[in-house]
Amino acid sequence: MPSDKPILQVRALTKRFGQKSAVRGIDLTINEGEFWGLLGANGAGKTTTIKLLTGLTRPDSGEIQYRGRDFFRFFREAKKLIGVVPQQNNLDRDLTANENLTLHAILHGIPRKHRAERINEVLDVAGLTEYRDKPVKTFSGGMKRRLVVVRSLLHHPRILFLDEPTSGLDPQIRRNLWELIQKINREQKTAVLMTTHYIEEAEKLCHRVKIISSGQVIADDTPEQLKKGIGHYVLEGGEQELFFKTMQDAKDKQKTVHGESSVREVSLEDVFIKLTGKRINV
Ligand SMILES: Nc1ncnc2c1ncn2[C@@H]1O[C@H](COP(=O)(O)OP(=O)(O)OP(=O)(O)O)[C@@H](O)[C@H]1O
Ligand SMILES: [Mg+2]
Repeated sequence: MPSDKPILQVRALTKRFGQKSAVRGIDLTINEGEFWGLLGANGAGKTTTIKLLTGLTRPDSGEIQYRGRDFFRFFREAKKLIGVVPQQNNLDRDLTANENLTLHAILHGIPRKHRAERINEVLDVAGLTEYRDKPVKTFSGGMKRRLVVVRSLLHHPRILFLDEPTSGLDPQIRRNLWELIQKINREQKTAVLMTTHYIEEAEKLCHRVKIISSGQVIADDTPEQLKKGIGHYVLEGGEQELFFKTMQDAKDKQKTVHGESSVREVSLEDVFIKLTGKRINV
């Protein structure tokens, strides 16, 4: 179970690019060991938020604290707590898995005497041990993504930021990666903030979800509560979707609908569509 001790506290975070406000006053508190989902349509500001929280971009205003201390005043200490999986893989294709991991280990100040052991550990977690000395350019998309995920763990971060960790992967590989991320969260109690276009997965994995639209938070709760907020059952028929508290209410209404219709349980995707008016693009 996650704790109620915050590892990250964010207040009124903003970021503009010229005339464009990419992030408009985001508040966020993540407790140690919590698994958060950050959902939003293309261009909603997810990547910008992650870049701000991991120190890749400076905010225009707002506060970011890691374990109660200002991020920018205690930048080096805070960075040690943070692991990042960027939206685009940034591996060196010509280097081997081991060489990519070694570079990262050096950058994160992992002492030489622990390096090989730690690298072998994370290769094992990724199921890539036998590919240790193969160049990354020979890897499949799923293997590269697994390598980037475990690379972010080398220095034992306490909070992991994953920007679309599974986009573009086939369903089986996606499931493997989700299991891996969940294992890291459960076993090492690493807090996670993950963006994803696969809402059904956020629904399964996340303790809490934040939905953002045009750089602003429009919902923040557990997946269960968010679903409750719109109703438990949805009637789909014709062009519309109607939400109901009980199955019986939905079925009663269904009798009045002409043409094909169906009643099913509400999903987090329904919440997303209702709140944003958009379907998330995969
Ligand atoms: N470096 C930049 N310069 C100018 N505008 C930018 C820059 N980075 C992001 N933006 C703009 O800020 C907004 C938010 O972009 P961001 O990449 O954070 O969205 P996102 O939610 O990650 O989208 P996606 O789902 O497509 O990855 C977009 O309108 C984007 O065009
Ligand atoms: Mg993005």
